[in-house]
Amino acid sequence: MIKVDEHPDQVITVRALRKSFSGRRGKTVEAVRGVDIDVLRGEIFGFLGPNGAGKTTTLRMLTTLLPIGSGTAIVAGQDVAREPARVRARIGYVSQIGGADDLDTGRESLLLQGRLYGGDAASVAARTEELIGLLDLGDFANRRVATYSGGQRRRLDVALGLVHSPHVLFLDEPSTGLDPQNRANLWERIEDLRAAGTTIFLTTHYLDEADALCDRVAIIDHGRIVALGSPSELKREVAGQSVMLSLRDGADAITQATALLEPLPIVRELSALDGDLRLYVEDGGEALPALLRLLDEHHIGLHSINLAEPTLDDVFLRYTGRSLRDTGAGEGPEGAER
Ligand SMILES: Nc1ncnc2c1ncn2[C@@H]1O[C@H](COP(=O)(O)OP(=O)(O)OP(=O)(O)O)[C@@H](O)[C@H]1O
Ligand SMILES: [Mg+2]
Repeated sequence: MIKVDEHPDQVITVRALRKSFSGRRGKTVEAVRGVDIDVLRGEIFGFLGPNGAGKTTTLRMLTTLLPIGSGTAIVAGQDVAREPARVRARIGYVSQIGGADDLDTGRESLLLQGRLYGGDAASVAARTEELIGLLDLGDFANRRVATYSGGQRRRLDVALGLVHSPHVLFLDEPSTGLDPQNRANLWERIEDLRAAGTTIFLTTHYLDEADALCDRVAIIDHGRIVALGSPSELKREVAGQSVMLSLRDGADAITQATALLEPLPIVRELSALDGDLRLYVEDGGEALPALLRLLDEHHIGLHSINLAEPTLDDVFLRYTGRSLRDTGAGEGPEGAER
């Protein structure tokens, strides 16, 4: 059992959190399977994982929207299961879909939300103007939400989660569906919020978002945390550089190349990824000539070679044996707007 306020600098403390759903035909889905999280005051903490990993389920438990299966969660100094109303008063939540009403203007939405949280007219009006400034909504705050672009709408969603000045803001997939420019803008606004003292817990399935925005990241897969640390710590664990070899002649060549390269002392890890070979080496500049020579000697043809610093995807691959990109998630969207 965790004591409330045992760690004053800790805004979220989660131990052995679990949740199962009874799915179709009586089959049980174990969505969250024993998650421990410590989020410190003032940090942006990211929950990174593929579709169905358990990100939203965890977030909904921490925000009191879904009863906890088992385990404990303390959020903003309050036990989520015992004091849900107190937790709700201290947190903001922006869902995966968002919540602004099409028929209102942005300004009206903020004023209404402020009144719903029980603020008096004067302080709600002042907070609304403050948020319009903070999220850069000024140019369109008097237009109906129905006319907003995806990025404008998403910034309003975030502002709506902040009307009651919460200690911690939960964002579920903040930039999904936004084009690169709007994502970058949203990231800047989120960084401004951290600078203003808000702790932020977000979920994402974008590697670049986790890398660019988060102070620390938990990588979640099948309901379990498989890696935890700052993006640079996590990437350092994968050490060295990754080499992607795209071979010309399909499966046989992969088998042959694997047999040749795997025993080499310079190769730390090697895996086949649909038609390509990914391997990690200490020093790419030194390793590449040796690798190429060996492949050439055995007449194994190459389409392309790619040498790169490790990414969070390499971290994911290392801990799960799969690439986050192969799960249909991973890199940012290509010019999408909702
Ligand atoms: N109400 C529910 N009833 C049954 N199964 C559920 C329910 N909610 C979630 N699940 C299942 O739990 C698992 C985790 O879902 P969750 O929504 O937490 O994933 P996620 O990581 O947020 O994925 P995404 O990136 O797609 O949003 C999935 O297998 C999902 O189908
Ligand atoms: Mg989700």
